[in-house]
Amino acid sequence: MNVILLGPPGVGKGTQGVLLAEGKAWKHVATGDILRANRREGTPLGKEAQKYMDAGELVPDELIVAMVKDTLEAMPPSQGVVFDGFPRTVPQAESLDLALQELGRRVDRVVVLEADDEVLVKRIAGRRSCPECGSVFNVYANPPQREGVCDKCGADLVHRPDDNPETVQNRLDVYKAQTEPLIRFYDGREGVMARIPGEGGVDEIQQGIRAAL
Ligand code: AP5
Repeated sequence: MNVILLGPPGVGKGTQGVLLAEGKAWKHVATGDILRANRREGTPLGKEAQKYMDAGELVPDELIVAMVKDTLEAMPPSQGVVFDGFPRTVPQAESLDLALQELGRRVDRVVVLEADDEVLVKRIAGRRSCPECGSVFNVYANPPQREGVCDKCGADLVHRPDDNPETVQNRLDVYKAQTEPLIRFYDGREGVMARIPGEGGVDEIQQGIRAAL
């Protein structure tokens, strides 16, 4: 099954995507995580992406589409996928349709997670991320056992560079202008779209997502 998690910054795509992929033994394809790994490793893609990410702007479609195609082509043909943070524009969605078609796959479900902007801003302000293993915590809702230290690998947690208030506002604006139109793009496909409240407990939201699949 090929599932897209769609929704604004901070709504919980990463949190829910990891749980869903672990539970179903699917691959979690999170374009933000792949870009951050490229930045850490200092690859040409990571260096090119940095200026867009730090400003809260989208990385150009052609870079993102090539990156996702490489990931898909390296996967076993029958493995399920959870896309998190991709597609984010209509051209990306069109490219995904073509790439999946070439591999004998298709978009099976699009799960839209929804929450008010105030909730998103507070969650992002409280997020602490592990630069080593990618684990995500929240000082309000899901704090690490030792303040500032990753429970899983012991690395020092960081506040993502794009999680400052000005950049967050731009990310919300970019979502509304460039990514929200995807809801209409997928809406006409029968049995594909599901809208799930992104507010509430993590487990409760996960159950809602699984029920929608
Ligand atoms: P990306 O990394 O994809 O960021 P995003 O979409 O802005 O989403 P976030 O990671 O901020 O939030 P999330 O929805 O995953 O929430 P999370 O689970 O962490 O992209 C970053 C940048 O990369 C983009 O701005 C762009 O530059 C570039 N990029 C990436 N993909 C691209 C693409 N396809 N095209 C072009 N450019 C691209 O949760 C947030 C916080 O809330 C956490 O602290 C978490 O612990 C907490 N939390 C989660 N669920 C709950 C809950 N139910 N209750 C309470 N707290 C919760």
